[in-house]
Amino acid sequence: MGENMRIDARWIPAFVSVALFTSVGCGWGQESHRLESPDGKNVVLVEVEDGKLVYSIDRENRKLILPSGLGFEFRGAPPMGSGLVISEVSRNSVDEAWEQPWGEVRYVRDHHNELRVSATETDGPGRSFAVVFRAFDDGIAFRYELPEQANLDEFEILDELTEFQFAEDPKAWWIPANDPTHRYELLYRHSPLSTMPEVHTPLTLVTLEGLHLVIHEANLVDYAGMNLTASMGRRLSVTLPAWADGVKVRGRTPFVTPWRTIQVAESAADLQPSLLGLNLNPPSAIEDMSWIDPMKYIGIWWSLHINLETWGSGPDHGATTENARRYIDFAADNGFGGVLVEGWNLGWDGNWMENADLFSFTEPYPDYDLEALADHATERGVTLIGHNETSMGVENYERQIEDAFSLYQRLGIGALKTGYVGDETADGHAHHGQYMVRHWRRVIELAARHGIMLNVHEPIKDTGERRTWPNMMTREGARGMEYNAWAGDGGNPPEHETILYFTRMISGPMDYTPGVFDILLASSPDGPRSPESARVRTTLAKQLALYVVLYSPLQMASDLPENYEGQPAFQFIRDVPVDWEVSATIGGRIGDFVVVLRKDRDGPDWYIGAITDENARSLEVPLSFLPEGESFVAEIYADGDGAHWLDDPLAIEISEREVHSQTTLTVDLAPGGGQAIRIRPAT
Ligand code: NOJ
Repeated sequence: MGENMRIDARWIPAFVSVALFTSVGCGWGQESHRLESPDGKNVVLVEVEDGKLVYSIDRENRKLILPSGLGFEFRGAPPMGSGLVISEVSRNSVDEAWEQPWGEVRYVRDHHNELRVSATETDGPGRSFAVVFRAFDDGIAFRYELPEQANLDEFEILDELTEFQFAEDPKAWWIPANDPTHRYELLYRHSPLSTMPEVHTPLTLVTLEGLHLVIHEANLVDYAGMNLTASMGRRLSVTLPAWADGVKVRGRTPFVTPWRTIQVAESAADLQPSLLGLNLNPPSAIEDMSWIDPMKYIGIWWSLHINLETWGSGPDHGATTENARRYIDFAADNGFGGVLVEGWNLGWDGNWMENADLFSFTEPYPDYDLEALADHATERGVTLIGHNETSMGVENYERQIEDAFSLYQRLGIGALKTGYVGDETADGHAHHGQYMVRHWRRVIELAARHGIMLNVHEPIKDTGERRTWPNMMTREGARGMEYNAWAGDGGNPPEHETILYFTRMISGPMDYTPGVFDILLASSPDGPRSPESARVRTTLAKQLALYVVLYSPLQMASDLPENYEGQPAFQFIRDVPVDWEVSATIGGRIGDFVVVLRKDRDGPDWYIGAITDENARSLEVPLSFLPEGESFVAEIYADGDGAHWLDDPLAIEISEREVHSQTTLTVDLAPGGGQAIRIRPAT
């Protein structure tokens, strides 16, 4: 089977300097207002129909979103959304580029046209609100502004009335939101949009014609996370997780909501991660970013998940001084920047998921010499990565957090993994509601003040906050590698990561924790796992390819150090960067395969990662992105003869060949397989 693909040079952004221009216009009393993206392809129409403010979206004369409603329901006040007239309109245009301190691309272009429409109630309280629309070439965004006014001061939102009324019934790739226990950690399913339950965003949709759309949100600061519920056929309505008393959002005017975004791409290969959302977040609030440093890390972690060691005290305690020293030395010897240690702090004994209040975030177990290990790590040029599992005991955490972060700062612990295993807070506030969103922001800001980079597990989804707070490096927020360790779960199927790339990863980096070499889990106490139980469902080469496909600025090599010793394939993990100049999807189909190209930000090397589902594939990848007339060497980590995720996952073939811009590589992928390629200058 062959799948031919061509690299699309558009995704190698060459813009370094672009003009900034701004124009402002005003219109009064018109009932219909049109906004176009700079390339004229995405068009928004805003109008009042029967006293209701509605918007619709077309792309090149194709109807995407039919007139859809906007507004709010409040506690103790009439709903806002009917009996309206348009009272003010203004416009703006922006074209500017900015540089990321780290990221999947170095430069981001923010090129959009803006339309701001204010609507006022003609009777009743006479309140006003505005909706600001931005049209980009790759999508549309809008948010509400509630200005300060006499009849709207403090408010409690019971419902946001935003709708997305689809012109057709696209195919949707979704995870359910009505299952609070999983915190986004479910396998993606697909179905017509009209038959979905309440789902999380990002929500990826494919129209009959093959247009790819992603509905998501940006700049979630002080609001509840947005879910979407299909109602009345093709209409999606916004649904919001609640405070314990049922209120969705508390606020006071002046107030702005997060942006609601609809990314639009002509095909899967045109669908690029996250830059639209970054443009909708304010620039960095951190002036000196020199301490923020993407890195690869290892950790006392996988051993805990395969039951080889324990978080809690006892003979198998993983976080001992001796063990952590061994990890620090391995990290230093192999060029890793950090060592995560879980189970270092008091509180893990007994059922830690139910004993949230017992966690101390400053006191180590007696067999873990925190100060000496921090010193040893510093001496060896590595940082310890702290671990704070809260089990959703956020009040317990907040009581200790200032002391804890001061301690970590004094010890030179420059990165922290946090965790929020649990369904809701002790007081009953939803995991993804406004109460928790406020908490997560507080932690980001406090961490920034203490020079700490963050990796959040069981997080709120990524809405681009890393632009403002570049210490917010990565997060979980999907089913990661750990599901392959948990007996009884069944693990992640071979197609899993080919779906993640086009769904969860659209929102931003993920701490997926790739790099398991002991695919059969022979290191677990009960020996190699059978195909029926949880185990890693990929080939070894695919584990390597995931370093290119699944972007994370803190990227783990998750297996035990002893499983990397003497393995030639480990060289790829040592080489692969975590900070990129450019990134591009160069081919793919959701749930089938994906090929990703990235260029090192700090050197001349290019990397390609290709992964497939349970089907073998042969892909033609032209290297036309390479500078003409120069010679390169491709170091190829391919599935070996007979490789198969089920029968022979370890077969790998490592080879080198000379390549140049005219070369087309044939990339053969085994069932559940992958290929990882480093392309370096020949001299
Ligand atoms: C779940 C996290 O995803 C995992 O990485 C961590 O080891 C455990 N919680 C314990 O905090």
